Amino acid sequence: MNILILGGGGREHALAWAFAQNPKCDRLWCAPGNAGIAEEAECVPLDILDGRKVLAFVRDKAIDFVMIGPEAPLAEGVADLLRDAGVTTFGPGREAAQLEASKAFTKEICAACGAPTAASQTFTDPQAAQAYVAREGAPIVVKADGLAAGKGVTVAATTAEAQAALDAIFAEGPGARVVIEEFMTGEEASLFVLADGEECLVLGTAQDHKRAFDGDEGPNTGGMGAYSPAPVMTPAVTEAAMARILRPTLAEMVRRGTPFRGLLYAGLMVEAGNPRLVEYNVRFGDPEAQALAMRLGAQLLDVCHAAAEGRLAEARINFAEDHALCVVMAARGYPGAFARGEAIALPEIDDPRVRIFHAGTRRADATLVSNGGRVLNVTARAESLAAARDLAYAALDAVDWPGGFARRDIGWRALAE
Ligand code: AMP
Ligand code: GLY
Repeated sequence: MNILILGGGGREHALAWAFAQNPKCDRLWCAPGNAGIAEEAECVPLDILDGRKVLAFVRDKAIDFVMIGPEAPLAEGVADLLRDAGVTTFGPGREAAQLEASKAFTKEICAACGAPTAASQTFTDPQAAQAYVAREGAPIVVKADGLAAGKGVTVAATTAEAQAALDAIFAEGPGARVVIEEFMTGEEASLFVLADGEECLVLGTAQDHKRAFDGDEGPNTGGMGAYSPAPVMTPAVTEAAMARILRPTLAEMVRRGTPFRGLLYAGLMVEAGNPRLVEYNVRFGDPEAQALAMRLGAQLLDVCHAAAEGRLAEARINFAEDHALCVVMAARGYPGAFARGEAIALPEIDDPRVRIFHAGTRRADATLVSNGGRVLNVTARAESLAAARDLAYAALDAVDWPGGFARRDIGWRALAE
């Protein structure tokens, strides 16, 4: 099988690494890729938001399977264009991708299928939104509608904070929409589910750390680390989430004639064993995918390909009783301003339980240099979470990159239990 992966971050490096190990993978390309992915795949500078260019490349190289990593090409409808052209493609179409692109759409789906989530209302009128906040009081959550890359959410402790968040969103212009919702308490966890339109299959659970600094302090980021499985996602909680949230959502998408194909990532709030939906993403989490890929290895290709071909009913996953943990090394200053182009020297690693995935790197002649905010994803798998943590931090400490920083407490919540 000839395979093309779209994307160029740590998630795509982990997918490329897992796919390349599978004997069914003949040739592997990645667009645009990065310096680490280049060790697994041929990297090509395609504009991945331009479906026609992607399709031309697919035809030229006789590619059998396209795996779409990030949300942007999904929201652009690249999966629709490829599937309409007969290409086996992993990732939802534009309509189904609204589950991530629009928080208001997700609320509408939850209401239609009875999935538990925070009570909410959607507003386009600033006065009405302000009045709602004044009536409901704090704590309250204000979310800009649309792809905000995790930046459009304010968990407001006071009504003044919520009002300021509303002012900032409505200052964007007349098209602005906000979802205002009830503040939920509990423990957050993520559930990763493959779907082929009809069938679905649980791929795993994870928890990530969104804040930049130790102790979950500092600004929100794309994710500073993750581990899998999430202890709070016991088999009973996972089954409750599937029965009350995931399966009803997928059925509702089928009913609307826009079935979801790909990976549905449910961000959940779990309190007293009851999961409620915080948000959906329509692609693998980053860095959660790195932890999942370490655990699943080559079989990740088999199940993703089965999902894309509508064969999930016959797909099986062999789960090991193991744990994986991923620590992100970021450029100092991230998620604010940071430098690029700093030289990085990686240690030689011959332990198969440890991988350093590249998130934002490139080669400048022979030198590996930083090329993004999140730069490296040091990932390890072991029989216990503590052992995985120790392996990952030992590898991280051997990275020579003075301009990088990492949290030292990835996994703290699960390790404390
Ligand atoms: P989202 O982009 O919707 O995932 O929101 C980002 C983060 O804000 C989540 O991971 C939660 O930590 C927090 N959050 C979002 N919605 C709520 C809510 N209704 N109650 C409590 N926390 C929330
Ligand atoms: N790590 C969170 C995300 O991928 O959205």
